[in-house]
Amino acid sequence: MIKHKILSKIPSLLPHIPATKWLTHSDALHMLNSHSTVFLKPDSGSGGSGILKIRKTSTGEYEIRYGKIRDRVGLHTLSRTLRMYQRSYNNYIVQEGIDLGRYHGRVFDIRMYLQKPRSEWGISGMAARIAPPHHYITNYTKGGTAATLEKVLLPLFEGNIEKMNACIQNLKNISLTIARTLNKKFKDTRELGIDLAVESSGQIWIIEANTRPQHKLFTKLPSSEMLRTIRHNKKKIKKG
Ligand SMILES: Nc1ncnc2c1ncn2[C@@H]1O[C@H](COP(=O)(O)OP(=O)(O)O)[C@@H](O)[C@H]1O
Ligand SMILES: [Mg+2]
Repeated sequence: MIKHKILSKIPSLLPHIPATKWLTHSDALHMLNSHSTVFLKPDSGSGGSGILKIRKTSTGEYEIRYGKIRDRVGLHTLSRTLRMYQRSYNNYIVQEGIDLGRYHGRVFDIRMYLQKPRSEWGISGMAARIAPPHHYITNYTKGGTAATLEKVLLPLFEGNIEKMNACIQNLKNISLTIARTLNKKFKDTRELGIDLAVESSGQIWIIEANTRPQHKLFTKLPSSEMLRTIRHNKKKIKKG
């Protein structure tokens, strides 16, 4: 949430930041009035753990998804669940649900790997993470698979190469702005893993920025070029 607050102060990032609040029962219900889905997430979570997806159905019920569990409940049970998470020892946030782009019906998002080996931030790796079929979380540790950006974005934009290239350029610009902005506050940070979502309209959303990113995802790409760059820069960073 602290990173979210910092990024929200940057005008060029604002259109890419989904509505996010500390979880309260009433704010979550409110958000479900203006958005068809919302996500509940532990504020300092990682690896896609503890994340719930809530959707308002056409019959006025609510579908709650938690891992492999999928429940349909009424307002009363939903309220009880929300109150329970509000009181959880993990601080939870509630975030508007983003309509992630799909590849063969499976949702995906983009992991950007940024490093500052010397005085400048650079983009060392970019990969798409495709969720398992029917799943709502793309994390590698939750069964997400790696793919190149081209593989998922070209079909998303119906083969329009210009649109794809413009999107990739935007992903780069947004990530670099995020890195430079966060670095002003977190001075020792020299690596960032940024999760960005792309909708089929091309709209980009910032999901989160991790200061201790994993790079295992990049071992699963057809080319090892990004992995080599990441490892090379890690050595430079270690040397100081
Ligand atoms: N607001 C959202 N809308 C749609 N999908 C989301 C949203 N927030 C998270 N997700 C999905 O859940 C995954 C994990 O969320 P994230 O906030 O990155 O938590 P973690 O720190 O556990 O990785 C994301 O990569 C994405 O697939
Ligand atoms: Mg993440």
